[in-house]
Amino acid sequence: MRYRLFLSWLSPRFLAHVFHGLACALALLTGLRALAADNAPTAAQVAETEAALPDLAKITPFARQIPVVLVTRDPRKPETWTKLKDFWNEAPIESVDPATGAKITRTAVYIKVPLGLNTAPTIPVENPLTKEKVLLGKRLYFDTVISSNNKVSCASCHNPALGFTDNLKTSTGIFDQKGGMNAPTVYNSAFHPLHFWNGRADTLENQAQGPPQNPVEMHDGKGIPWYQVVTRLRANPEYVEAFAKVFGTLPTRDATAKAIAAYERLVLTGNSIVDRAELAMRTRVEEEGEGKLETSAADFSKVLKEAFAAKDREVLGALGLDSQEGKGLEKVTEIAAAIQRGKVLFSNKARCNTCHVGDNYSDGAFHNLGVGAKDGQWPADGDLGRFGAQATGHKNPSLVGAYKTPGLRQLVATAPYLHDGSEATLEGVIDLYNRGGNLNPHLSIKMRDEPAEREAAINGQTAVIPRKLLLTPEEKKDLVLFLRALQGDPAPAILSNP
Ligand code: HEC
Ligand code: HEC
Repeated sequence: MRYRLFLSWLSPRFLAHVFHGLACALALLTGLRALAADNAPTAAQVAETEAALPDLAKITPFARQIPVVLVTRDPRKPETWTKLKDFWNEAPIESVDPATGAKITRTAVYIKVPLGLNTAPTIPVENPLTKEKVLLGKRLYFDTVISSNNKVSCASCHNPALGFTDNLKTSTGIFDQKGGMNAPTVYNSAFHPLHFWNGRADTLENQAQGPPQNPVEMHDGKGIPWYQVVTRLRANPEYVEAFAKVFGTLPTRDATAKAIAAYERLVLTGNSIVDRAELAMRTRVEEEGEGKLETSAADFSKVLKEAFAAKDREVLGALGLDSQEGKGLEKVTEIAAAIQRGKVLFSNKARCNTCHVGDNYSDGAFHNLGVGAKDGQWPADGDLGRFGAQATGHKNPSLVGAYKTPGLRQLVATAPYLHDGSEATLEGVIDLYNRGGNLNPHLSIKMRDEPAEREAAINGQTAVIPRKLLLTPEEKKDLVLFLRALQGDPAPAILSNP
């Protein structure tokens, strides 16, 4: 009896009801989900916005493409570089059209890579520089359309007028949320082998894909971030046309990241007073046919006077000098001597060059200076720095709390300093180094007093002992002045003016 009742429950009509009910519920659920998230794009729809193969017929014809050529100063043949008048120069270039094999003359942009940057940034083969691409990247960089609420652009936090930073302790992102990190400058970021304070992105293309999906920076946390960014770009016919010309595709995530990175690779700065003094020194030694390849106070005097003659506001202003009135000209000898003393300190007693080396004053490596340490401890709930970003299987325990060595070229414009923005002034940063960093168990070996630690070990104690620099107040001032003398030319209006 019971058995029969059960069977009658399974009558075809009843089953049809059940199925219909289920189907309705399912449809309703999918519908709701679709409303909640972008009309729920399928995996294939999302993939289609990620990357696409180019339609060559849409790309600007080869003869009208304007390649960007980076020209660095080659000391064996400096004329090519010297001849260039500005940072950005448009002039003819001889090319061979790959389609026809014909020799043609087209226009190129010749970039005068600023003095002091002796090598040009590496350009990835898959992302060659053209004028159209750089200008598309620039437009994207300044466009709030990248953010969910249409209020935040890359330039909000990396503002050209503020040395490509925001001058905030830590950045303010979407819906006025506070991030935990200080925004580094984009200037010369093309020279960093790894990006972000903990180095978690290995190319500018990869870096640029981060903020648009970051719920504290540019994304509202609902739906699929890049699918949404690309969908918004595709809704703008001007972007559709520009992407077609540059990439031969509709806007995609791949192309957007490439264009922004191409733009960033031209955000370069150099030609500081220090670079100019070094060139003056080399020229002097060559002309005299003798002498050490080391700058003197006289080299700094010479280039400071030239800067006055040229009314060079940026570099003189960085040193507290007024270029317009010629005020301070009488101070040149004194200031030149102080910068020279600061330069010697930087590479000797203060040992800054153990980490701040090369054209961009960075070793591209990661060190724990104790920035963020409290009471001699690395906060247990704190950010792990480079260690936290290293791939599983590649973790290096000596990099707990280690952050990337930043370049030092635009410091006057980029305060506050350090990964957490904890130092408002350069004087504050120098004081940090003078006490050997902030004590914590993971302090970089380069910041530690090894002889003192060995002595402690002999007495049976294991200790981390910070290496104090013992700088005098005068030496600290000279060092700060040297850092200020690293201030270089700002980016030209074609790159910095939205
Ligand atoms: C809300 C503020 C904010 C926005 C918007 C933002 N950034 Fe950043 N950016 C930061 C902060 C903060 C860091 C450092 C974060 C870290 O290291 O964890 C950073 C890091 C970087 C770096 C790495 C620099 C270096 O030396 O390692 C680059 C390059 C960069 N941003 C470019 C961009 C681009 C391009 C965009 C737009 C797609 C963008 N940023 C949007 C705040 C922002
Ligand atoms: C052991 C390597 C090391 C040494 C030595 C070193 N630095 Fe640094 N420097 C770094 C690292 C790493 C950071 C970022 C640290 C952080 O934020 O946690 C940094 C940050 C800075 C900053 C802040 C820049 C910015 O944009 O926020 C300045 C300025 C600076 N250093 C100057 C100096 C000077 C001057 C000296 C010599 C007195 C020096 N450094 C010695 C590695 C070093």
